[in-house]
Amino acid sequence: MSREIVAIAADHGGYEMKELLKADLDGLGFDVLDLGTNNADSVDYPDFGHAIGEAIANSQARYGVAICGSGIGISIAANRHANVRAALCHDGLTAKLSRQHNNANVLALGARIIGIETARDAVSAFFTTDFEGGRHERRVDKIELP
Ligand code: RB5
Repeated sequence: MSREIVAIAADHGGYEMKELLKADLDGLGFDVLDLGTNNADSVDYPDFGHAIGEAIANSQARYGVAICGSGIGISIAANRHANVRAALCHDGLTAKLSRQHNNANVLALGARIIGIETARDAVSAFFTTDFEGGRHERRVDKIELP
């Protein structure tokens, strides 16, 4: 059976964390679609937020992980794309809630805000937690513009 695809992208601020988290995603049973950046040279975070957003919007990947220095810029860019719900999470709890209540499909992380072990907790929580549906479904449906 083919494995589900998770797209991952980062700017230079998140490059190192991206490289480390790819092994975690593999361990959780996903194929990883790495959309760059591919080294620590300075780049522009919107390019990578849009790459993640497009991969989700085009159904190239079901989920994404987006990393920049703060997690803010890359999540803003990803969220410009249809059907993308990128959640900037700071730990396992926020990652878990972003799945349970918001049906987030992109986990955004700030590599200059949290350390790698906290990022690992967030990845693990995000990818092992289901959307609760029910009243949350109505609210999530209201997010998308007509
Ligand atoms: C890059 O210096 C930094 O601005 C970027 O990684 C991110 O924090 C933007 O939101």
